[in-house]
Amino acid sequence: MTLAVVGGGSTYTPELIDGFARLRDVLPLAELVLIDPATDRLELIGRLARRIFAKQGHPGRVTWTDDLDAGVDGADAVLLQLRVGGQAARHQDETWPLECGCVGQETTGAGGLAKALRTVPVVLDIAERVRRRSPDAWIVDFTNPVGIVTRALLSHGHKAVGLCNVAIGFQRKFANLLGVGPEAVTLEHVGLNHLTWERAVRVGGEDVLPKLLAEHGDAIADDLRMPRSLLDRLGVVPSYYLRYFYQHDEVVRELRSKPSRAAEVAAIERQLLDTYGDPALDEKPELLGRRGGAFYSEAAVALTSSLLGDTGDVQIVNALNNGTLPFLPDDAVIEVPATVGAGGAVPLPVRPVEPLFAGLMANVTAYEHLALEAALAGGRGGGRRNGRNAGAEGGRSAAREGGRSAVFTALLAHPLIGQTDAADRLTDELIAHNREHLTWA
Ligand code: G6P
Ligand code: MN
Repeated sequence: MTLAVVGGGSTYTPELIDGFARLRDVLPLAELVLIDPATDRLELIGRLARRIFAKQGHPGRVTWTDDLDAGVDGADAVLLQLRVGGQAARHQDETWPLECGCVGQETTGAGGLAKALRTVPVVLDIAERVRRRSPDAWIVDFTNPVGIVTRALLSHGHKAVGLCNVAIGFQRKFANLLGVGPEAVTLEHVGLNHLTWERAVRVGGEDVLPKLLAEHGDAIADDLRMPRSLLDRLGVVPSYYLRYFYQHDEVVRELRSKPSRAAEVAAIERQLLDTYGDPALDEKPELLGRRGGAFYSEAAVALTSSLLGDTGDVQIVNALNNGTLPFLPDDAVIEVPATVGAGGAVPLPVRPVEPLFAGLMANVTAYEHLALEAALAGGRGGGRRNGRNAGAEGGRSAAREGGRSAVFTALLAHPLIGQTDAADRLTDELIAHNREHLTWA
């Protein structure tokens, strides 16, 4: 089988390669194609990928190209792991919202909206080209914000499933704490991407979450940087992204007092790229563990293998709600356990969700709906695209107004923003920092 990775020049890629090499029996790759416009990085990482495969005795071929159409041609699955604008754009997403007293984060709040606006048109263009070259290929989306990007792909009829490593991370952590293998642990994970709660942790059919909290509550809380008392009061384990909601103001103060995560990541990436160039390196370096992508490769291998092998096993992925959570629209994308096979991912039934969680999910789902509308505004409205027409100034300013109003509405709908003044200021900041990515601005 052939798998193409868009964003293959990412410093994350060795994490993926390591998983493909170790799990070659689960996912027997004949060819792995790394695709990236950054040709120097691509070659560096391509060569390292070959060394990792060779060391582990993987018989698959590793190739690379900056030509997307050629790269996805004949692929059985295409993995998307790209970042439009790189860490520089992320640094902006993480900083300007702080000036308005709002959290600055790459996927949550106003920064996440900026990322969605930059990313959705690019991903839809890629998916269209995948459909033309390899109409049967599955798209596995790891590109953030995964909820909105997956929603964009599914609403345009693409064969896509969204993936995040938060659930597999909890599974591994809990298995360690319990002293059992990860496959023994099943999570009752519910929510939207980066807005999830573990409501039960089952081992052999028994819910061991109360025991986990009683015995390891402090360690789990420390790890999430949440007060232990919050976990006890909720009786569930929220993902660390819930910090941005439950401890919003505290997080804003903290973020204001230190360099952005993007700056940290950029420094790690510089070191990683140096390391990757060493011809003696033939494994994933430890330094990569300082990035947030742990176990991403294992989740990606499992998902791809089930989609292509029609296994029908259960994995935690991002898929269409379709009535699973009755308080959300059918076309919402939710992150829950789902049966995965050749027909895609179908969520398993979910027991009624407590109002505390359901309320926030409904609110953020509405935001995601509006965020996608804003991200599609350029495609519909025209802006510069229509600017070629004589006398199009009126059209341009209408598109600009429409674009601005869509951004404002999405920000006003976000539970962490919600006030006119803040939404207005953030709208201006978002547009000012992302003008080159917005066709209508
Ligand atoms: C986790 C999230 C990913 C996110 C990553 C950021 O893995 O699930 O969606 O991209 O963290 O990690 P970074 O090292 O870039 O801060
Ligand atoms: Mn994620």
